[in-house]
Amino acid sequence: MKPTEELSHEHQAILKMIGILGKMADRLEARTSVDPDDLDRAVDFIRVFADKCHHAKEEGHLFPEMEKAGIPRERGPIGVMLADHVEGRKHVAAMAGAIPGIRKGDRKASAAFAAAARGYGQLLTGHIFKEDHILYPMADARLTPGQQSSLEACFIDVEKNVVGEGKHEEFHLLLERLEKAFSA
Ligand SMILES: [Fe+2]
Ligand SMILES: [Fe+2]
Repeated sequence: MKPTEELSHEHQAILKMIGILGKMADRLEARTSVDPDDLDRAVDFIRVFADKCHHAKEEGHLFPEMEKAGIPRERGPIGVMLADHVEGRKHVAAMAGAIPGIRKGDRKASAAFAAAARGYGQLLTGHIFKEDHILYPMADARLTPGQQSSLEACFIDVEKNVVGEGKHEEFHLLLERLEKAFSA
């Protein structure tokens, strides 16, 4: 699999979790109870799968290789993507910060989680579209075969040493379970 194909594949998993977060937000706004442990698990997925794994592959490896290939970081698409990642982390921090209040039955905390989840979903859906349709095709066209294979090796290293073996599979099982639980 090409490095950008692997990243696009991960986008599909992130979009699934965004769908689940939307359902969680609906239930919180309708004052239907949501297991706070599931909210914790969803936030953990975003922090580890989306940020620590996926964004680390982009920020630590793909974007630097694109810069080496002559695509500018400042005033260019890479800068926009990095700014989106920073913005996304603020929404995730707001979601995580609301969970203790939700555990205590605080309605304001439920509303805060729902707003942050929707903000994150909107931001990342646009971000993923831009990467899949603009940035990754640019990388595919500009990166040399040597750069592509060194990226593949770096991605394997991220999976093994940053995320941890078996964690990826664990997250896919979580996605399946939450999709079923929040399908209605
Ligand atoms: Fe990104
Ligand atoms: Fe991405």
